[in-house]
Amino acid sequence: MIHIYNNINIAPRISFGVHHQVKTLVEFENVEDLRSYFSEHNPEKWYILGAGNNTLFTHDYDGVVLTPVCRELEVLAETDDYVDIRVEAAADWDTLVQWSVDKGLWGMENLSAIPSSVGAAPVQNIGAYGAEAKDVITHVEYFDCRTMNVVRLTNEECRFAYRESIFKQELRGVAIIMAVEMRLWRAPKPNLGYGDVMREVEALGGVSLANIRCAITAIRGRKLPDPKVLGNAGSFFKNPIVEREVAERLLDEYPSMPHYDVPGEPNKVKLAAGWLIDQSGLKGYREHGVGVHEHQALVLVNYGTASGYDVKHFADFVISVVEHKFGVAISPEVNIL
Ligand code: EPU
Repeated sequence: MIHIYNNINIAPRISFGVHHQVKTLVEFENVEDLRSYFSEHNPEKWYILGAGNNTLFTHDYDGVVLTPVCRELEVLAETDDYVDIRVEAAADWDTLVQWSVDKGLWGMENLSAIPSSVGAAPVQNIGAYGAEAKDVITHVEYFDCRTMNVVRLTNEECRFAYRESIFKQELRGVAIIMAVEMRLWRAPKPNLGYGDVMREVEALGGVSLANIRCAITAIRGRKLPDPKVLGNAGSFFKNPIVEREVAERLLDEYPSMPHYDVPGEPNKVKLAAGWLIDQSGLKGYREHGVGVHEHQALVLVNYGTASGYDVKHFADFVISVVEHKFGVAISPEVNIL
């Protein structure tokens, strides 16, 4: 069933909490709802909003915001080794991670406490603590608004990369994700190589699904602001991927600069945008109700009064300071409208 809302304030539906008017917001449950909405209204300008954790409106929006409300979980297959599931787009990501941990299934635990809907996860291939959504996703099902048909892509066809997928490229403005299929494993597959994870898990009593989830939730809780308290969209910027020679030049000057290899791309190096912003002296800096979070410089926060335009303006300022100091261009991870 479709629900249509006219001229609503988007603030309660996006984690940045900025107040802007949206002309039309449509909640839909299934493909039939989308077919009937697209054939009756043929909207020229539309945007898909999941749980609103990675979107910044910078002005009032005169198009249509489409938002799924379907959240069923179905077990597709079970073997001695794995369980295949299909989960609808509006399901809450972290509730699903909790479900997988309760069932003793491995694969999602490092992605605990990420604020996201399931349908948004493949778009930017959410990732944290050495894991990415692409590691568990087997297929993504989407509604193609040109043909009005449902298409099911394999993991490979989604062309996942660091914070990237086909849904941010060719299928932007075309695909509306309806469901995601995932394969979770019965045998333990602990992935504890990132940062403090191992130490935190051992302090909790050793390696288990529940301890990994608990450790990661605690680490995130220490660094990342709760959007219910302070408006934010997690990492505002992507970690920049630069040519190896650029990284080497910077390492000569800043030997302790964090840097990471990029799988399959030997001439590229990933830098830590949080470190670059921090070293630019901006951690904790604030202006006009927007600031760089004091515990994690990758995160911009709304202290309550900022408009989306203020946040965007502040982000441009951060980008220019980093570019000036390091000659490295950082770019937003957040979708800006
Ligand atoms: N760093 C600083 N100062 C800061 C922040 C980071 O010096 O203010 C340094 C850290 O000391 C570390 C390096 O930068 O050496 C990397 O920091 P961290 O491990 O905190 O991770 P990140 O690269 O800043 C990425 C993801 C996060 C994810 C963490 C953990 C992106 C854009 N962000 O952050 O994802 O939780 O790794 O895996 O890739 C998100 O996408 O919303 C998000 C929070």
